[in-house]
Amino acid sequence: MYSSGNGRGSAPPAKKMTVPDLRSRKGVGPSIAMVTAYDYTMARLMDEAGVDVVLVGDSLGMVFQGLTTTLPVTVDEICYHGRAVARGAPRAHLVGDLPFMSYQVSPAQAVESSGRLVKEGAFEAVKLEGGEEIAEHVRRIVRAGVPVMGHVGLQPQSVHALGGFKMQGRGVDAAAKLVADAKALEDAGAYAIVLEAIPPDVARQVTAAVGVPTIGIGAGPACDGQVLVCTDLLGMSRGHAPKFAKRFAELGDAVVKAAADYVAEVRSGAFPSAEHSFKPNRAEEAGVDLTKN
Ligand code: KIV
Repeated sequence: MYSSGNGRGSAPPAKKMTVPDLRSRKGVGPSIAMVTAYDYTMARLMDEAGVDVVLVGDSLGMVFQGLTTTLPVTVDEICYHGRAVARGAPRAHLVGDLPFMSYQVSPAQAVESSGRLVKEGAFEAVKLEGGEEIAEHVRRIVRAGVPVMGHVGLQPQSVHALGGFKMQGRGVDAAAKLVADAKALEDAGAYAIVLEAIPPDVARQVTAAVGVPTIGIGAGPACDGQVLVCTDLLGMSRGHAPKFAKRFAELGDAVVKAAADYVAEVRSGAFPSAEHSFKPNRAEEAGVDLTKN
């Protein structure tokens, strides 16, 4: 038995966030608020908070599974988490990451994997990493009817090629390449583009260069929206966190304190008290010794 009510009374469900809704925010706002989520409970809280987009990122490999990179994450895993998140987030637009080697091989593989995310994962759009080199893949997925969100700058699936999770877009050539990549994605039909870990002035130029919303993570304030990993924004991450990962709460400390209080009360016998127990049967009070039956 566990609590599952939505606690929101009889308020009518808010309107579903769509791709055209997000596109219409370009340049005029309000700024798009996107977060990651990997399970029903977190998705429900984020949806209730009013986030516009929930992403089941392949960051689930690191955040949820404790891996050191996103590379081992599979399409099956993204779909499994997507189904749970979709049940919790009826209003937010739902995006699923295409994991490493589920789209790079060929445009046909990219279409097939995207189809699986929509059919098996309940996603409304897919996100993939890369610029000009995957533009044809994007074009083919969009042609198949699946909206695509691009992702340039730091591409965690290329962590070994990059030599780590490092900031990108330093120097004129690297910045110009980012603009060219973003334009290629827009031209191929992407409806939004994530800009990860790049200088804010470069993000401003990329944002000005394309007609679709840019969504930044470690890319400064000039983007058309922002995205954060849910455990970072809630202050649940332990150890090193990137500079841009603002903690809007310290839930990690709150969880440890609550669990430690629970341990102490279980050991002392203070929990469960009468308040957290059902009404007595009273057979014992009436003198019936149930152990004798
Ligand atoms: O996998 C992920 O969570 C992401 C976001 C950080 C944009 O790609």
